[in-house]
Amino acid sequence: MRARAAIEIADPRKTYAIADCEIPALDGVSFRIEPGEFVSVLGPSGCGKTTVLRIVAGLTVKTSGSVEVDGVPVTGPQRKIGLVFQVPALMKWRTALENVLLPAEILGLDRAASRVRAQELLEAATRDPGRGGNGARRAHGRGKR
Ligand SMILES: Nc1ncnc2c1ncn2[C@@H]1O[C@H](COP(=O)(O)OP(=O)(O)OP(=O)(O)O)[C@@H](O)[C@H]1O
Ligand SMILES: [Mg+2]
Repeated sequence: MRARAAIEIADPRKTYAIADCEIPALDGVSFRIEPGEFVSVLGPSGCGKTTVLRIVAGLTVKTSGSVEVDGVPVTGPQRKIGLVFQVPALMKWRTALENVLLPAEILGLDRAASRVRAQELLEAATRDPGRGGNGARRAHGRGKR
């Protein structure tokens, strides 16, 4: 018997309903990622890369098929999965630091420790941590970092 995969995808399908049309966004994709593997998903625009990543993260509900993370079927958002959104999801009324702190706030983590860690991450990501300036004033590339 093979060891448990980190991620195993068996033909998850996703169909979007627009007006009276059914648009297949994902069809016939199956793969297995072993623990510790570093994998890139490549393909032309619109082939379903974001859709498959969102299904693995539990942010998009698949129409059929099976997706497992660490041997457990994905049925909703996964705390252990981090996702960098294709379009930065920054809250414009919060500073850069407050945006980085948002997940820690939602998870109820220690405020002081989270603040120190968030500042370290901002400093690692940019020479100008921009702790002032709000989310609306981030350049797109900086917003993603
Ligand atoms: N919310 C949605 N409603 C309707 N159709 C959608 C939606 N999201 C994605 N699609 C469609 O599903 C297909 C796959 O989209 P997806 O965003 O996964 O592609 P992608 O490979 O990530 O593209 P890109 O390289 O441009 O980011 C496309 O035809 C897209 O138009
Ligand atoms: Mg995409």
